[in-house]
Amino acid sequence: MKPVLAALLGSPLPEGNTAILLDKAMAGARDAGCDLRKIDVPELGFTPCREFYFCKDHDQCMMDDDMNEMYALFKEIDGLIIATPVMTMGVPGALKAFMDRFQVFFCAKYIRKNRLVSAEKRRHRRTLLISISGLNLPHTFDGVRLSAESFCDIIDCKLSDELYVRDMDNKKDLLLYPELLQEAYQKGKALGTAAVTALGSDQEM
Ligand SMILES: Cc1cc2nc3c(=O)[nH]c(=O)nc-3n(C[C@H](O)[C@H](O)[C@H](O)COP(=O)(O)O)c2cc1C
Repeated sequence: MKPVLAALLGSPLPEGNTAILLDKAMAGARDAGCDLRKIDVPELGFTPCREFYFCKDHDQCMMDDDMNEMYALFKEIDGLIIATPVMTMGVPGALKAFMDRFQVFFCAKYIRKNRLVSAEKRRHRRTLLISISGLNLPHTFDGVRLSAESFCDIIDCKLSDELYVRDMDNKKDLLLYPELLQEAYQKGKALGTAAVTALGSDQEM
């Protein structure tokens, strides 16, 4: 059985620079032997968290939208790639709202102490975070990193590798930077290889 990795695109541009890096990382993970599920987050139909807190007592959200399918998927994945531009020094609104909706996982883990992710999956799930920024400022990726790290903790998919590309306003087209594309591919391949190895050793146990 192949490991399944989710790949989140946080940019609203399906063929922008973030998407180019994500596609490279996905190709690396696929070449390592994984199945990939790409999620174009800005295209999903869902409402930001309304703090109904139905999830304090239930394994699901009371709002019935595209997030239901995401909850089911995120219980089962063996790894994750997040690719996002920086917007207003943080994660773009749609991706942030997506992360916030995983309060369903937060409540299960930290309030009811009954996680939605199995112990077996928790042992090996890892996340690769890719982010790009227009500017070349100090602390540019701090907001993205903090939100991603918190999200990864909530969904039990540890943040294990990162690729940051700054100064896109000057670089403009990532296709002109084959070394960065190669780095994304290699990081995706490393994540995929680790998932294949972990799943193989779990099945031997
Ligand atoms: C609404 C908005 C806010 C942005 N805020 C920032 C920012 O705070 N810091 C920064 O360095 N770049 C910022 N950018 C620039 C993007 O990070 C940059 O253009 C990136 O390359 C976009 O990637 P994409 O084309 O793949 O979506 C912003 C862009 C937009 C559209």
